Formats: sequence, C-alpha cells, structure tokens
Amino acid sequence: MVSETFGYIDSNRSRYLEELKVFLSYPSISTLSEHREDVLACAEYLKEHCKKVGLENSSVIPTGGHPVVYADWLHAGKDKPTVLIYGHYDVQPVDPLELWTSPPFQATVRGDNIYARGAADDKGQVFIHLKAIETYFELNKSLPVNIKLLIEGEEEIGSENLELFIKERLEMLKSDVCVISDTAMYSRDIPALGYALRGLCYMQIDVIGPNRDLHSGQFGGAVENPINALASIISKLKDEKGRISIDGFYDDVLPLSDKERDNFARLPFDEKKYAEELGVDATSGEEGYSTLERIWARPTLDCNGIHGGFTGEGAKTVLPSKASAKVSMRLVPNQDPDKIAKLFTDYVYKIAPKGVKVSVSGHHHSEPWISPVESKWNQAAARALKGAFGKEPVFIREGGSIPIVTVIEKLLYVPVVLLGFGLPDENAHSPDENLNLNNFFNGIKTVYLFYNELANIKIN
Ligand code: BES
Ligand code: ZN
Repeated sequence: MVSETFGYIDSNRSRYLEELKVFLSYPSISTLSEHREDVLACAEYLKEHCKKVGLENSSVIPTGGHPVVYADWLHAGKDKPTVLIYGHYDVQPVDPLELWTSPPFQATVRGDNIYARGAADDKGQVFIHLKAIETYFELNKSLPVNIKLLIEGEEEIGSENLELFIKERLEMLKSDVCVISDTAMYSRDIPALGYALRGLCYMQIDVIGPNRDLHSGQFGGAVENPINALASIISKLKDEKGRISIDGFYDDVLPLSDKERDNFARLPFDEKKYAEELGVDATSGEEGYSTLERIWARPTLDCNGIHGGFTGEGAKTVLPSKASAKVSMRLVPNQDPDKIAKLFTDYVYKIAPKGVKVSVSGHHHSEPWISPVESKWNQAAARALKGAFGKEPVFIREGGSIPIVTVIEKLLYVPVVLLGFGLPDENAHSPDENLNLNNFFNGIKTVYLFYNELANIKIN
C-alpha cells in the first residue's frame, strides 16, 4: 500500500514540479498595492487548482483586503475528523532584485532545489497538501478524513482581515484539528514538529527636524540632526548584554524550564558552522542564552529598515529634515503585543532627544503561541513524518510568527499542528528563496500518511 502510494508520488515528480512552477509564477506580493491584481489572479488560479485536485466548493471569497481561497471535501463521514488546512498564497517583496540568481517569479530548478519567491514560504508548502489530496483521490477515489482548506492572501502583512472572516464563518470552518505547513524542519535530514511560535510587535519611529534639508556646513552643530537623533534612540533600545532596555519589557516573559533547555541542548547544533554559513565571525545575542534559546524562546528587537538623508552615489553635505526606522520585536509566550507596543512607545518618547519631533506608530502584531507536545494530533503527525522521511522527528519551537494561529485556536477551539517542510537556510523573505525538492516530495508522502493516521483518531 505505502509502496504503491510512494511509487505513484515518485512517478509524478516532474508533473508536480511543472504545476508548482505555475503557482510560483504569480507575483502575489500582498504588501505592495501595485500587485493587487496579481494577488487576485493567484487566488483565482488556486481556486481552479483546488477544483482540479478533487476538492469541492472551491471559491475566492473577498475580504476587506486580499481574498481568501476556500475549498472542502466533506464526505468521509461524521465519525471522521474534519481537518482544517491553513496556509497562505501571498509572498514577501523580492527586493533587492539584483541579488536573485534567476527571476523570482520564474521558478527554476537548480540542483536539489526549486528557486522562486514563495517556494518555501508558503506556496510550495500549500502545494504539498494539494498534491497529497490529489494523490489520495487518484489512488482511493475518496479521502479518509473531511478536509477544509483555508488559504489566505494577507499572512505576510499580519492577517488583519482574517480574524473577522473566521468570526463570520464559524460554522463553515468548524473542524477538529488545524494543520499548518508554513514552518521549517530542524535541518536537512531531521524532520520536525513545531510546538511554539514567537509573536511580533512591529513599530515605526518617525523623526522630523528642520522644515527642509539644510546645508550641513551652514547649519551643522546648530540644529539637531534627525538621523543622529534616530540613531541615539535606536542605540538605547538594547544594552551591551543584548537585553532590551524598554521599561517593563520582560515583565510577562515565561522563563524557560530546565527540561526545555536540556531538550534544546541535546539537538545537534554546530555554532561555528552556523556562523560561517551566515558569513559572520560569531553569533551574538542576549547574554546567558544559547543560540537556539535566543531564536526560539527569548524575545528580541531588531531594526528592519532605516531611512533618511542622502543615500545616493557619492557624497552630499546635507543635514536632512527627517528620518525614520522600522523596528520589530519578536515576543515569546505570555507577552502581549498591544502591551509591548505601549511600552515601546512610552520608552521612545522618554528617550527622544530635544529639538526634533518624534512620533511612534504601529504596524501589525502577532501573538506568541505554545502548545502541548504530546497531543494525539502531534503524535499522529510524528508517525507520518517517520513513515515518509524514515527518521524520528524532533519537537522544536519556531522563531517566526503566524498571526492567525492563536485566533484559530480561540475562535474555532481546535488544536494546531505545525507540520513544516521548509529549511532554515532556504532564504525565506530574502533573495534566492528556494525549497528542497526531496522535502517537497517527502512532504507529499507525509501528508498522505498523516490523513491515514488522522482517520484512525476517534472524535467525540
Ligand atoms: N512562514 C513564516 C513564519 C515562520 C517562519 C515560522 C520561520 C517559523 C519559522 C510566515 O510566512 C511569516 O513570515 N510570518 C511573518 C508574520 C508577520 C508578517 C506578522 C513573520 O514571522 O515575520
Ligand atoms: Zn513569510
């Protein structure tokens, strides 16, 4: 049985890849308004593909922003679990474009990987589910569980319209478990299940000085420079031990248990190789914590972009009239993004230098999430991973954020399983994003086996 299934999947490799290339060809960049039509076209393509693989009620449903694609198949019987599959078809911007080896929306296979924006995050992983469903229909004419597919177009911009979408469709989305493939495996040959995500609080600082750009010789020294002021603010956000200096920032952070620290420490991790692969001399971060602890279980603060003054070729002696920075904080369980946004704002106003106007505003937020490792759903997923990859998976936390996870849990009362097939070195959000093809095909096998496992789980 299993060998027949795996044989079928292997014999369809080239067709799956050609189809994936089409999905990857849509520039569905949710944050850029000039791509609005591309996002919609991608949703329409996805709707058609859901129909093609055998799902029903496939539709593109409008929201206050980019649309949601929904499809289902509900004929497995009332005694079988209903599985909600969540993913996203929107992608991040592609800049800097010149650093891509091949064009981001012309998917290209090189070696063992397929390169394109969205290959790993998250179109390739959404496609894994579609191909597993298709395979199941091809080989069995039906599915062993009920399936509801919810693929959104705004994950990369904070899923702001999805909460209302779900609230208005509680019955339509009612399910027993939610499966998300939008995270990474531990490493190339170690599959993983995620049991925690960090949250996010994304802020912007705008600094305004003189009412126009000034000659820095005529005015330099007499007026506060907005870039200098911004640099001074940013330099005070963290101390030299890597701790965030914002008053009250750590108040709600749950400390890591010794058991979890032990588990992390037991995972194979080569600090030197890690730094080398990233092209840095050494890792760096909050004192007293290992790299895995820093990424997975400690909050952090990063400047994501900074803007101001003259950045063109050559030199221009100018004292700019404004500067701004985008700053995001990754949060860990029990921290509240709204509370952190307030603490950040108060602190920045407190340390703002005189002579400039500083304003702080917020972008999207995402709540941190943690779940029990030993649930029957996670155990079923672990068996499926073992069956497809031939290796016992590890349970890991994830450093990234998926804003809708806590909303799904709270509104639909379903546990969430993070069954990710990406890899940390696949350049998500960066040039040359790619997805390892072995993991793509093993992912299809895993999801196929997972449906079988789920069909054996009794629901009340
Ligand atoms: N797939 C990622 C989330 C992710 C990345 C989880 C790495 C685990 C490891 C997702 O598409 C993403 O990038 N989310 C954003 C959310 C934000 C824009 C609210 C993120 O984490 O930056
Ligand atoms: Zn992403």
